[in-house]
Amino acid sequence: MDAALDALRDALPDLRLLTDASELEHYGRDWTRRWTPAPCAIALPASVDEVVGIVHWAREHQIALVPSGGRTGLSGGAVAANGEVVISLERMNKVLAFDPVDRMLTVQAGIPLQLVQEAACAQGLQYPVDFAARGSCSIGGNIATNAGGIRVLRYGNTREWIAGLTVVTGAGEVLHLNKGLVKNSSGYDLRQLIIGAEGTLGIVVEAMLKLTAPPPPTQVMLLALPDFDAVLSAFSALRDGLRLEAFEFFTDVALKHVLAHGGQQPFDEDHPFYAVVEYAHESEADEVAALSLFEQGLESGWALDGVIAGSDAQAAQLWRLREGITESLARYTPYKNDVALRISALPAFLHEAERLIAEEYPQFEVVWFGHIGDGNLHINVLKPDDLPQADFLRDCERVTKLLAGLLARHGGSISAEHGIGLVKKPYLIGTRTAEEVAVMQGIKRVLDPDDIMNPGKIFD
Ligand code: FAD
Ligand code: MLT
Ligand code: ZN
Repeated sequence: MDAALDALRDALPDLRLLTDASELEHYGRDWTRRWTPAPCAIALPASVDEVVGIVHWAREHQIALVPSGGRTGLSGGAVAANGEVVISLERMNKVLAFDPVDRMLTVQAGIPLQLVQEAACAQGLQYPVDFAARGSCSIGGNIATNAGGIRVLRYGNTREWIAGLTVVTGAGEVLHLNKGLVKNSSGYDLRQLIIGAEGTLGIVVEAMLKLTAPPPPTQVMLLALPDFDAVLSAFSALRDGLRLEAFEFFTDVALKHVLAHGGQQPFDEDHPFYAVVEYAHESEADEVAALSLFEQGLESGWALDGVIAGSDAQAAQLWRLREGITESLARYTPYKNDVALRISALPAFLHEAERLIAEEYPQFEVVWFGHIGDGNLHINVLKPDDLPQADFLRDCERVTKLLAGLLARHGGSISAEHGIGLVKKPYLIGTRTAEEVAVMQGIKRVLDPDDIMNPGKIFD
């Protein structure tokens, strides 16, 4: 390996290459914290040419590459635990161009999501993909996972916002895909193939991002709800009566953890379920509509209580109760499930899953939350302090197997937005057929003939 790294230094004398143990550990893991990081080096290219050079070198020396953004991923996609070279895009983090006519921002892939949002805002526009990791995750990582977040019900996933991509494939070719076109019916849309590929086909180096008009003025409301069926009733009623920007739910268990982590108790009493709702508030009529819907909810029983933010600071406080869940659970190294179903199938799935888990694994605390408007449930299983990690993981795999069985019955997906990575690899078949996976493997062979791009992620 030392000789191969020397060859890389000779081929690319300006390339920043890190090999200190602390750097290997830092860049070799993602938010899952489950695998022991063991990359052989970290490459920090500063240009597309350097990325191409690294890929050619990796092909020649048969060395696996792990593309790396902010390493906030929750599926082990950016983990390097087998002597790979991590290729971190963090130095390729600039805004390259803005076009006001096209309403398009061209960026390097290592730029953090929040800087993209700010750059859009500075132009009087909006890049609407948004979620709590905005300050640390990168656009390249968002593209590679087709990230979702809290505004998908209004604006869609990352996939909707990518007008062009520059990708260095596993063969070392530079592809400029779609080039910002709105319409393009000239054959296969290879851009969409790269989105969600979790770095297994190539390295995204630049992206053309669509921007849109800024959001309307909004209001934030927190609802207390008696049960999950009521969450769906609330969602249907508010979606029909308001212009929703977000509708997110969480349980009393999630709230307990956020409160223990510094959140502010929203109501005098505890309630089983909560929903944070953000809706357009352009005139008094919107407020009247929201209040009238809430009163209908109290009368028909789907709402138990509610609070409407009186200021931006209070709106941020209400959002924190939802957005703080991941951080507040981090100390339990939760096992995360991230499932997608048709919205109409959510109640049956949740009730069956709750019952099965409670019957078979009563010792586990399970935290439910997620993006109801997208049919996306997050099911976090927390490790009891006295249970060894290996036993915990074994039992969590069994829980996920139960969930995978239910998903197959309800026509759902084992990953809604986090990706398959390493965590969900054993459950890909079930959500996708063997024939589909074989097609994916065939595509990988074309774009990555030596299997150097993030091997072992998504499928073997
Ligand atoms: P990384 O973790 O670095 O990598 C993720 C995958 O992308 C890996 O497979 C990696 O190899 C690949 N990759 C990275 N960069 C590139 C590149 N340039 N080219 C090719 N492949 C690349 N996700 C959601 O979808 N919705 C949420 O609401 C959400 N909320 C979150 C909240 C918190 C607090 C945290 C910690 C995470 C959350 N996530 C969420 C998960 C995570 O932030 C997203 O998956 C994000 O898109 C990952 O971006 P990243 O730059 O950190 O990617
Ligand atoms: C969220 O919706 O908060 C994210 O997907 C993160 C998580 O699932 O923990
Ligand atoms: Zn989520």
